[in-house]
Amino acid sequence: MMISKKLNDTFNAQVGNEFGASMQYLQIAAYFDAMSLSNFATFFFLQAQEENAHAMKLLHYVLETGSPLQIPAIPQQKATFTSAEEAVTAALGWEKEVTRQIYNLMDIAVEEKDYISQRFLDWFISEQLEEVSTMENLLNLVKLAGEKNLLMLDNRVMSLRGPAAGAPTASE
Ligand SMILES: [Fe+2]
Ligand SMILES: [Fe+2]
Repeated sequence: MMISKKLNDTFNAQVGNEFGASMQYLQIAAYFDAMSLSNFATFFFLQAQEENAHAMKLLHYVLETGSPLQIPAIPQQKATFTSAEEAVTAALGWEKEVTRQIYNLMDIAVEEKDYISQRFLDWFISEQLEEVSTMENLLNLVKLAGEKNLLMLDNRVMSLRGPAAGAPTASE
């Protein structure tokens, strides 16, 4: 086992956090789907896919280091929203929370002089910058447009995902 018990436990917990984020995004996608805002829905379905890929990336890292995998119970996610602003605010809150969780993993890896884990986690830290900034942009636009004008925003929401829009890249 190439990583400590403490790091192993924290990586296992993070696998669950990423699956939880994926499920939360599915709920948000369902909210937008019910409002017939199809691009908003697609945006969040793709986010959900990305979070699933993050969980798998962490899961394979645990296995690669020869450590036991223990996926925790995933708490039930918030399923009802009263506005797009509330849903996107929840998504931004998630991303900030996940950033703290990744920082915590990095803090442990640094503390333990585990350079392999530090290098592995670098990718997640860069990814969080992109995720938080994308969600902040989306929240700004939702506030600017207002709930009545979301249909106009629906036409350009996918462009917020950047050049990789629509297709998760090989690294994800
Ligand atoms: Fe993630
Ligand atoms: Fe994310």
